[in-house]
Amino acid sequence: MIYLDNAATSFPKPENVYRVMDDCMRNYCANPGRAGHKMALDAGRGIHKTRELICKLFNIDNPMQIVFTSNATDSLNLAIKGSLKPGDHVITTSMEHNSMIRPIKELEKIGVRNTIVMCDQQGKLDVNKIRKAIRRNTKMIAMTHASNVTGTIMPIEEVGKIAKERRLIFLVDAAQSAGVYKIDVEQMGIDLLAVPGHKGLMGPQGTGILYIAEGLKLRQLKEGGTGSKSELLTQPDIIPDRYESGTPNTPGIIGLGAGIEFVLNEGIEKIQKHEKELTAYMLEELKKIDEIKIYGPQNEEEQASVISINIIGEDSSEISYILDKEFDIGVRSGLHCAPLAHQTGGTLEPGTVRFSLGYFNTKEDVEKAIQALKKICKEMVSDK
Ligand code: ALA
Repeated sequence: MIYLDNAATSFPKPENVYRVMDDCMRNYCANPGRAGHKMALDAGRGIHKTRELICKLFNIDNPMQIVFTSNATDSLNLAIKGSLKPGDHVITTSMEHNSMIRPIKELEKIGVRNTIVMCDQQGKLDVNKIRKAIRRNTKMIAMTHASNVTGTIMPIEEVGKIAKERRLIFLVDAAQSAGVYKIDVEQMGIDLLAVPGHKGLMGPQGTGILYIAEGLKLRQLKEGGTGSKSELLTQPDIIPDRYESGTPNTPGIIGLGAGIEFVLNEGIEKIQKHEKELTAYMLEELKKIDEIKIYGPQNEEEQASVISINIIGEDSSEISYILDKEFDIGVRSGLHCAPLAHQTGGTLEPGTVRFSLGYFNTKEDVEKAIQALKKICKEMVSDK
């Protein structure tokens, strides 16, 4: 299959990810931090190595500020529900995924207020609108780095400055950007960074990260065994243990480490350049097809490698079905778990056919997708 659904999960993974996970499962997958025998220590060391690699990638000082979760949704839930209390106000944008919007909406039930700042039709944010939305009780600005519907890249560095000036917690959802775009938590003023392990970081599903800036104490969302302070009947304060109850996903986290090592070795610049070239080529060719409507910035400098389109008058699910069945091309269609982003871009009703390109895609893959779309357009026109 020509896999063009990397915004949902990246595929394939670097060879070493498969290798280290297999090695871990076969040779030392004991319970880390729960015993002092060799296998448990090796498992613990493997997990710590991944924490250190994450620090390197995002310019984080202390590996203990990294919390492992199951995915970005899990990270966002901890970040939002762990930080906000009744009477607080949070600002977010209309380009967010439901993993951001739903926890924020859930908190309305306990009296946490929110303002959703509208972006323009291409998903672009006017940072002045964020400034204007700040109230006396605003506690957090929470936003995505890049839209999963249109790819639109958001001005997180500018918003981070506003958050710092106004002493607000700045939460960034890096689901579509980590591993491809530079993220420096210090320079960008990020207090909470939510990242999936299975997209641009090239790890397996079931892995996620929440970076919590030093000095920020969240309410944990679950309690249980941590392997530390076992004499206590209450959750220990030690980080990251406070947020990491229960046996971790050891092989997954070790696989994630191998994915991050790959990203660091290749280099963000090289990965980004490749994805930008593919995006530019696909956009250029799509613009030549009259029957196709493209959403978002339509410019590789302003969007991640996510391209949402429709064939005018056709159902997006039907197009993705044909792409899969007749052309062996995998894409996502419909609503991409981000109804507000679709509403912003005017695609709530039709949804979109979303092509998301990854580092392992080639120009040939993109070319095949373009030729397939041309053929579908031609057949659909002649059927009418
Ligand atoms: N959030 C993922 C996507 O956009 C699953 O497809």
